[in-house]
Amino acid sequence: MRTSRVTVPEFREKKARGERIAVLTAYDATMARLLDRGGVDALLVGDSLGMVVMGLESTVAVTLDDMIHHTRAVVRGSSRALVIADMPFLTYQASTADAVRNAGRLIQEGASAVKIEGGQPVLDAVERLVDIGIPVMGHLGLLPQSVNQIGGYRKQATTPAEADRLISDARALERAGAFSIVLESIPADVAATVTKAVKVPTIGIGAGPDCDGQVLVSYDMLGLFDGFVPSFVKQYANLADEVVGAARTYVDEVKQQQFPPRAESVADVDRSRR
Ligand code: KIV
Repeated sequence: MRTSRVTVPEFREKKARGERIAVLTAYDATMARLLDRGGVDALLVGDSLGMVVMGLESTVAVTLDDMIHHTRAVVRGSSRALVIADMPFLTYQASTADAVRNAGRLIQEGASAVKIEGGQPVLDAVERLVDIGIPVMGHLGLLPQSVNQIGGYRKQATTPAEADRLISDARALERAGAFSIVLESIPADVAATVTKAVKVPTIGIGAGPDCDGQVLVSYDMLGLFDGFVPSFVKQYANLADEVVGAARTYVDEVKQQQFPPRAESVADVDRSRR
């Protein structure tokens, strides 16, 4: 069983030998530890934490401090998976200097790479970060930080012109040094074309089966998030029902004075587990 972290160069090697890459999001140490044990190649500290952890309407209000806080926790909890931290809205768009300073903070907290949304407009930032040794994952297709511009979370690159632009953005990101590219909510045939067009691995979410890897929001695939879940998500568990059921049983037992049992005193509790 491997004990060292997956590395950025290994992402490319996996594509070269045809090994699919499995990525999940994580936001805290406990979940990171569990998903790491499950064998994921990478944990993405996604700014989706704004919605699934912080209860926000979108990712737009997530701050660098939020990302630092959660990145720290995920790094502490994991030992094997590559940790990639999302750069939140307004931390890389205003200037390359901002991008360097803010990406650097996430790397100093233990992330091995950062993820940036967009194509042409962010190429300078990507190039500069890669130049100074900060690996960058690109993100094309549906860009949640641009939800106000798009007007909702709808499929992207659905016309030939949009598909062509996305393919040329992917090539440009590869040239700028991105080590991998997330493709979100685009037609499967466009994702397949991009995947063939670049040597770096594509990681799909709602982009069909032909990407080099897949990423899902862990709260969605575990059935924990009870807000909007996109139709392409497969729920591998239904933890929301488990949590509600356990909470109900606990409440009943406390009300009926069944928990804690009389025989057990506080002094008996084994705190060494913590
Ligand atoms: O923030 C996030 O979780 C993401 C994934 C959906 C790719 O960017």
